Amino acid sequence: MKRVITLTVNGLSCEVAVEPRRTLAELLRYDLGLTGTKIGCSIGDCGACTVLIDGVPSLSCLVLAMEVEGRDILTIEGLADGLKLHPLQEAFVEVGAIQCGFCTPGMVLTALALLEDNPEPTEAEIRRALSGNLCRCTGYQKIVEAVKEGSRKIQLEKKS
Ligand code: FES
Ligand code: FES
Repeated sequence: MKRVITLTVNGLSCEVAVEPRRTLAELLRYDLGLTGTKIGCSIGDCGACTVLIDGVPSLSCLVLAMEVEGRDILTIEGLADGLKLHPLQEAFVEVGAIQCGFCTPGMVLTALALLEDNPEPTEAEIRRALSGNLCRCTGYQKIVEAVKEGSRKIQLEKKS
C-alpha cells in the first residue's frame, strides 16, 4: 500500500506517494522525472545512481524511498544555477572527462562531496573517493583531472 512521504529534493520540498518497495532511484527517475540519476546495476556495484543524502554520497538503488522521509536529497539536476553549470560540471566538460556520460552524474556528486570535505584533495584521495563509481569509457585519468580542475575553480570562485 502506498504511503505519502515528504522529502526535499534539490532544495524543493516534495510530497510523493510511494510503494514500500520503491527505491530512491526509482522515485527520482519515475515519479519526479529526474532522469539525471542513472540506474546501472541496481545492486550497489556501479555507483551510477549516486546522489547526496544530507550531503553524503549514497547509492539510491539500495535506499528505499520510505527511508528518505524528511531527508535532503541532491541530484545532478540541483547543481547548475539556471543555465550556468556548477564549476565542477564545467571542469568535467572542459577537461573532456565525459564520454557516454552514464557515470557522470554519480561521479560529479561523489566528487562534490569530497571537495566539500577536502577542498584540495591529492590524486590518491580523489581516486579513493571515486573508487565506488565505475566508468567504462574514460580510463579515469580525465575524471581525476576534472576533479582537480573543479577544486581549482571552486577555490577561485570562493575568493572572487
Ligand atoms: S545502479 Fe546503484 S550502484 Fe549501480
Ligand atoms: S563516460 Fe561512459 S561510463 Fe563513464
